[in-house]
Amino acid sequence: MEKDQSKIIREQAPRSATREHSVPLYLTSSFIFDSAEQGRAIFAEEEEGMVYSRYANPNTTEFINKVCILEEAEAGLAFASGMAAVFASFAGFIRQGDHIVSSRAIFGSTHQLFTQLFPRWGVTHTYVDAVDNEAWEKAIQPNTKIVFLESPSNPGLELADLEFLAGLKAKYPDIIFAIDNCFATPYLQKPLTYGFDLSIHSATKYMDGQGRVLGGVIVGKQHLIDQLLFFIRHTGPAMSPFNAWVLSKSLDTLSLRMDRHCSNALALAEALEGHPEIADVKYPFLPSHPQYALAKKQMRAGGGIVTFEVKGGKERAYRFLDALRMILYTSNLGDARTIATHPASTTHSKLSEEERLHLGIRPGSVRLSVGIEDKEDIIGDILQALEESK
Ligand SMILES: Cc1ncc(COP(=O)(O)O)c(C=O)c1O
Repeated sequence: MEKDQSKIIREQAPRSATREHSVPLYLTSSFIFDSAEQGRAIFAEEEEGMVYSRYANPNTTEFINKVCILEEAEAGLAFASGMAAVFASFAGFIRQGDHIVSSRAIFGSTHQLFTQLFPRWGVTHTYVDAVDNEAWEKAIQPNTKIVFLESPSNPGLELADLEFLAGLKAKYPDIIFAIDNCFATPYLQKPLTYGFDLSIHSATKYMDGQGRVLGGVIVGKQHLIDQLLFFIRHTGPAMSPFNAWVLSKSLDTLSLRMDRHCSNALALAEALEGHPEIADVKYPFLPSHPQYALAKKQMRAGGGIVTFEVKGGKERAYRFLDALRMILYTSNLGDARTIATHPASTTHSKLSEEERLHLGIRPGSVRLSVGIEDKEDIIGDILQALEESK
């Protein structure tokens, strides 16, 4: 049987009468019916066929099929952005009075959903520290509908124990266990194979890999995806066919790019560990990471993100960022180009100082999304900026 890489390279929307080699871009809002009877039959779901690009399009279907292959998922749906996917993974299931258990270290906009939006609809949440296995079950209430997490977390790179959580899922089968798998990508980590129900991605990150388009995707159990299809069909957060076309092409090279992101990131983490100007380095595949053994068990490699703390606090971090020559400062991640970010003043600026410190975000913390340039150039730029910012 073909392996994943061969399968996704060969996965393609059905060839048209033009006999194209590469998949065309299906920029069409709707699809014609050959007859009135066919229109009726497709609407009645007696016959399969595309109707309208809000709920299916050959480009988005091709993209979803590839993510399903990578995640070993039964089914999936594509969204206009990662946040549209994250939002749908809750809004498609919750009712007034429901409760969500979530890891504390999550993407800022997901935190805003829990704290600003869902309380308006009578939906409550409890945060747990992802590394604390016992805390998960303690947080579950009779009205808990969804258990949600990110692993590795942003930017602290803490891990949740996927096998342990899948055990909890088996004990509470009615609760939906969902993971934002964006940082790991399905190449490095396959949560559904442990027993998770849904895996969510901001495709904007590593799936695109070149910082061009927004996208999101949810893959998982068929019966849950069917419920979500109702939600997207009637609320409209669909991915554009153009973005799906770009993202589907990008998935063909995901494994190659991830291998390079990961080997560059490990080389950088090793070069920074013990450096006199660095207070701390976090990378899941560094033996000094508190969950190194768990990382080795559940991830193929350590990922493309390295978080480190420069000595000298916020002022030093600012001087360091301003001294970088090749590496750019922007808030995206997962790009072929290395990107530096200062989480305390940007992505996590809405949190209190206390909340930030709890997540390991210090004034001198820098998050580096390590690109696929030559590793000597990445490490060289970081070392010269450390020297320059002394
Ligand atoms: C872990 C994680 N989840 C979700 C998102 C949101 O994705 P998007 O920007 O595509 O809406 C991001 C974006 O940075 C992210 O890092």
